[in-house]
Amino acid sequence: MALFDFLSKDIAIDLGTANTLVFVRGKGVVLNEPSIVALDRTTRKVVALGNEARQMHEKTHRDIITIKPLADGVIADYEAAEELIKGLIRKTLKDFSSSIRRMVIGIPSGITEVEKRAVRDSAEHAGAKEVYLVAEPMAAAVGMGLDVDAPFGNMVVDIGGGTTDIAVISLSGIASGESIRVAGNEITNAILQHFRKTYNLAIGERTAEEIKIKIGSAYELEEELIATVKGRNLVTSLPEQRDVSSPEIREAIAEPIGQIVNAVRRCLESTPPELSADILDRGIMLTGGGALIKGLDKRISEETKLPVFVGEDPLTAVARGTGRILENLDKYKNVLMKTKR
Ligand SMILES: Nc1ncnc2c1ncn2[C@@H]1O[C@H](COP(=O)(O)OP(=O)(O)OP(=O)(O)O)[C@@H](O)[C@H]1O
Ligand SMILES: [Mg+2]
Repeated sequence: MALFDFLSKDIAIDLGTANTLVFVRGKGVVLNEPSIVALDRTTRKVVALGNEARQMHEKTHRDIITIKPLADGVIADYEAAEELIKGLIRKTLKDFSSSIRRMVIGIPSGITEVEKRAVRDSAEHAGAKEVYLVAEPMAAAVGMGLDVDAPFGNMVVDIGGGTTDIAVISLSGIASGESIRVAGNEITNAILQHFRKTYNLAIGERTAEEIKIKIGSAYELEEELIATVKGRNLVTSLPEQRDVSSPEIREAIAEPIGQIVNAVRRCLESTPPELSADILDRGIMLTGGGALIKGLDKRISEETKLPVFVGEDPLTAVARGTGRILENLDKYKNVLMKTKR
């Protein structure tokens, strides 16, 4: 048993639309890479994964295709998703040269039984002996250090790449929740569409994401910002650059931001009164990469009249939470998802 323990590892994974993070028991988060797979078009063999594949994304030639297997927070391409999980685990274990015993995986709360099954299968194919699933907002709450098992309502809003997962957590369960497929990617896409429609300027996804991160906002900024965008003019077909301001981008992303705010409102409306009272005292915790959009906390606070906080290191909260659950499986057994086998 001791030898087996020594050779096998317990790992936790945040399988995100945008990024996949791997946590190893006793080591913490050891890997954080984009959820992208590059395949050879004819043989379908994996050419690259994660960071390396992202470098290739949108810059490939005709023999290589890049795939984001987790569109909208759920598995859109099962085969590619399994390759991603296997590949990233292989990368992790190479440094530890061992096999996997237990595996905790964070998945969106709105996932179907079929999708759960697929995630579980992929984990088992990757070599895991015991697989545990946990809802991402629950994992995020644990990662942020909230006492999820107490009889108090905690509201968590996880704005990732594909999904915004909102949950009111109490007594280790989700008392009320809301999950929408509008998050960071939709916001990036709104910027892309804005340039296309307003200026006939085609820009890439990476450029649009950069603009969002640099100057995207959901509330007036004390000092408004300017950025330069480069793309291709659709009329002249020539490369072109132009300056854009933060108020203009705020307007361009108003629609998806509004949808996120409305989802938070809907979740509050369906929350039992005793838990609402707790949220009034404790406020709302934002996490996930989307929580970093400038002024989003202020905007949600203004619209809900509640205190809103951005959790520490929002891009790793789910991974740290799955890790903490892995390291204390007994304490957290009630937060795990019940699945049909
Ligand atoms: N500083 C930032 N400002 C605004 N958005 C950001 C920032 N940093 C990252 N993002 C956005 O956050 C999103 C990724 O967040 P995260 O890694 O939490 O998603 P994910 O867990 O992969 O997705 P999901 O939970 O939906 O499966 C991307 O859309 C990215 O553009
Ligand atoms: Mg996530």
